[in-house]
Amino acid sequence: MALITFSSPLHKDKTVYAVAGSHTQTILALAKEHHIPIDFGCQEGNCGTCLVKVSSMDGKRAPMGGPLNVREVAALTELGHITKAEIDQMYVDDIPPTQWRLACQMIVRDEDILVEYPSK
Ligand code: FES
Repeated sequence: MALITFSSPLHKDKTVYAVAGSHTQTILALAKEHHIPIDFGCQEGNCGTCLVKVSSMDGKRAPMGGPLNVREVAALTELGHITKAEIDQMYVDDIPPTQWRLACQMIVRDEDILVEYPSK
């Protein structure tokens, strides 16, 4: 069972359990389930409102996960959080190239992670 810690400058940190191996639960779905106020809009990976920064709790490597999906690549490119070179390398390494993710697109893995989200 993975521990997901949500952290924001304006809210108390909250750590919740994620169901390991569900392969369907997004960061945003988990946040909503636990009343964590991550902003969101489309919930389809188009608007970029749910931008979060994700890091592995062991601090030794980037979080697990496969390449970003097409919508995440487009949104993160538009927001200036990923470069063409990083995208190209992502398809070689088969891992996410950046800590910036869309909460509505990133699937929770069996890994303890820190999710930092902006607050208004
Ligand atoms: Fe629109 Fe996630 S809510 S991209």
